[in-house]
Amino acid sequence: MKGKILICDPVDNIMIEKLSEKFDIDNDPEITRDELLKRIKDYDVIIVRSRTKIDKDIIDNAKKLKIIARAGIGTDTIDVDYANEKGIKIVYAPGSSTESVVELTLAFAVIAARQIIRGVENTRKNDFTKLKGIELSGKRLGIIGYGRIGRAIANAFKAFNVSSMAYDAYPVDFTGAEQVSLDKLLMDSDIISINITLRKDSPPVLNEKELSLIKNDAIVINTSRANAIDPKAFLKILREKNIVYISDVFWHEPARFDYEFEMLKLPNVIITPHLGAQTKEAQKRIAIMTADNILKEWA
Ligand code: MLT
Repeated sequence: MKGKILICDPVDNIMIEKLSEKFDIDNDPEITRDELLKRIKDYDVIIVRSRTKIDKDIIDNAKKLKIIARAGIGTDTIDVDYANEKGIKIVYAPGSSTESVVELTLAFAVIAARQIIRGVENTRKNDFTKLKGIELSGKRLGIIGYGRIGRAIANAFKAFNVSSMAYDAYPVDFTGAEQVSLDKLLMDSDIISINITLRKDSPPVLNEKELSLIKNDAIVINTSRANAIDPKAFLKILREKNIVYISDVFWHEPARFDYEFEMLKLPNVIITPHLGAQTKEAQKRIAIMTADNILKEWA
């Protein structure tokens, strides 16, 4: 008998093609939390991206669920410990979006260094005032979280003559960067790239004390998780310093709280709508790897 899959977020069609021989698939990429709570009892596998959060209540309603598949790399939106307690397997697609995230990080650095967003906003109003930026060449990049993506970022920035230092809370391979403490990285970097993996409810890595160490005119890039930063402490620092914060992730997407709306209004803050893995190529790789990992666990 075929298993039953519910797809809760948009995925590449190749995932459905690969899984349809073994599974009956319901594709409901806009399913609400309330609907999911009602319907999850009927499924053996659910496939989610960052929009759909899998917490204890959802897991408790899942009477026959065997696999939670994350079509992506971060499992922080899933209560992994509780799922494991219930014997539910978690699969995901490590490494599948590296190239897309690295390219976005390079773009963010150039956009921030050359004031490109402000320039475009000005020319839309027929204001052709010349804005002066900075070169990336010769600057120091600090990478927080030196996994696959962090290492690929250090390598890519060499093309801009940017040298890297890196901090990771875990023992990792620091090839391509100088291993430094978090404090040194924050004090010495001209550009900071946050590339950490979080678990559900991980506390922020950058709190008031750490944030206060960042150079006055640094560029801070975040293409991993907003929860790496304490938002209220950061809002205060962003108001006081000339730091440019350019991020593809936000605490709530869309924003919900006052501190988030305040931050979105700041001229030194540029936020994009979680585009890191949102390329044709990455979505295809994610779909293939996630489907293969589901089939391996199902076998
Ligand atoms: C991921 O963890 O892979 C990313 O957040 C990408 C996404 O879900 O769009």
